[in-house]
Amino acid sequence: MCGIIGILGKSDVAPLIVQGLKRLEYRGYDSAGVATISKGNLDRRRAPGKIAALEALLEVRPLSGALGIGHTRWATHGAANETNAHPHATRRVALVHNGIIENFAELRRELIDKGYNFESETDTEVVAQLITYYLEAENMSAKEAFHAALKRVRGAFALAVLFIGEDDLLMGARRGSPLAIGRGDGEMFLGSDAYALAPFTNRVTYLDEGDWTVLTRHSIEIFDASGARVKRPETISSAADQMVDKDGHRHFMSKEIHEQPEVIAHTLSRYLDPATETVGLPKGAFDFASMDRLTISACGTAYYAGLISKYWFESWAGLPVEIDVASELRYRNVPYTKGGGALFVSQSGETADTLAALREARAHGQKIAAVVNVPESSIAREADVIFPMAAGPEIGVASTKAFTCQLTALACVAIAAARARGRIDEAEERRLVRALLEVPRLVAETLKHGAAIEEIAREIAKARDVLYIGRGVNFPLAMEGALKLKEISYIHAEGYAAGELKHGPIALIDKALPVIVIAPHDALYEKTISNMHEVMARGGKALLISDHEGVKTAGDGLWASIEVPTVEPMLAPIVYAAPIQMLAYYTATTKGTDVDQPRNLAKSVTVE
Ligand code: AGP
Repeated sequence: MCGIIGILGKSDVAPLIVQGLKRLEYRGYDSAGVATISKGNLDRRRAPGKIAALEALLEVRPLSGALGIGHTRWATHGAANETNAHPHATRRVALVHNGIIENFAELRRELIDKGYNFESETDTEVVAQLITYYLEAENMSAKEAFHAALKRVRGAFALAVLFIGEDDLLMGARRGSPLAIGRGDGEMFLGSDAYALAPFTNRVTYLDEGDWTVLTRHSIEIFDASGARVKRPETISSAADQMVDKDGHRHFMSKEIHEQPEVIAHTLSRYLDPATETVGLPKGAFDFASMDRLTISACGTAYYAGLISKYWFESWAGLPVEIDVASELRYRNVPYTKGGGALFVSQSGETADTLAALREARAHGQKIAAVVNVPESSIAREADVIFPMAAGPEIGVASTKAFTCQLTALACVAIAAARARGRIDEAEERRLVRALLEVPRLVAETLKHGAAIEEIAREIAKARDVLYIGRGVNFPLAMEGALKLKEISYIHAEGYAAGELKHGPIALIDKALPVIVIAPHDALYEKTISNMHEVMARGGKALLISDHEGVKTAGDGLWASIEVPTVEPMLAPIVYAAPIQMLAYYTATTKGTDVDQPRNLAKSVTVE
């Protein structure tokens, strides 16, 4: 989603703001802008497209002023053009916004009736005009006007505001979208996350839901929604150490695919004791032994990780699981049970639908757990217990290492749940732990197939549609494979339960339609291979992803195959994810699409 930077600095801040915005590029955007206050006067530069366009503008028309705000915009209301780019300004304020103002139409009408004119189609401008109204018509102070406006607007947003005539004042607010304060030495900062603030400071204070803040170069005031002064802890962020670059890879996605052995191992180290071959969970409010139902919810790739873990919780732990995408679950009036728990999976920890579903589950008395990649995120902060994943910053919009780290964490939790419920004995726990400890090496082995997969991808790149099929734990992986291909190569793809082919999708089969068959040599292998033969009998192109035994047994006529090391069948998705990801990656590079920032997509969807 959008990115926000604000700086109360010691010298011209425009170059620093651009530097901060560049660290927010990974969130996805389609325009950018900066505004500064210099000797009380406001000036701004905005440009559609990438930050390079804004830099070119600033090259020709530099901005002076030691106070400023900047923004990368992901269009929700109004096209991605200069007029709609942030910062939005009136004769009294300049403002940047991340999120959605849900009642902007009503407020816009009200302000037009009061004689206010709008230059843009955005919801954001309504907030700038509303603050202006309170300053002028109600003769309020800057702080009163900001608070009054916050009480009128509805929606999920983060805001940063400058006031014309004020050289040492910056305000911000957080409701549904993250915002952090960075304290410098005689300087103050606002940013969408610690990573954006890292070049300036590691002293970070996260605003809580509903908080708003009034900053000068030497003071921080934080208020809750009612206007009462509150204190929030200042943390030392580690984001500065996580300097992210591509390490020689062409794209962040490629780097992150290849980081998987390392980060899966890091994640395992948070749970496994290799000496005793046991799993330990963080102490927290999740009592699996007495739990009668587990609700799991997430979005996108994180949802597919949750769906795979449903098989683990039910098969290993005998724990009934209800799972749905968060955008559905939050509105379903679920009949939660009193003894139930709810588990939310989210790389960013800021996905609006997932956060809303979490709050709905809590309102129905569920104990809340979260698997998140950002420990300071909103979802992490609202959970009773966090099950850690150690993927490190994931910059590519398409989730890869976060997916396999989510699976790794969920597998550990499901094994611990099975032990707690007495469904597996010590020997079985040790067997599964040993199988998990092998996974990083097996993934590393799989990554060696890059050249062969690139070859296959050149053919996939010519397809109009692609079908992925799998059974059991590999059915959600088939859907994840289809999502990966769709989101970075823009080729339509679907993931299907292999057994469902004959109930309709088999009508799609022809020689132009590649079918990716995910089938380890496990108990369901024979059935899946017979589905594959149904495809081949109709001229379909079958690509089999299996282990040595599986590829050998499949017989002739395969269009192509990818051999994966043999792995514990229930853990196969963690290892089989790598060829799936590489297939999508090389298809996208063959097509020349923007792999790290695919069109229309954002890394963290912090609006509904
Ligand atoms: C995954 O490749 C997508 N970028 C997207 O589906 C993502 O998984 C989804 O938006 C959930 O994000 P989260 O894990 O940060 O909650």
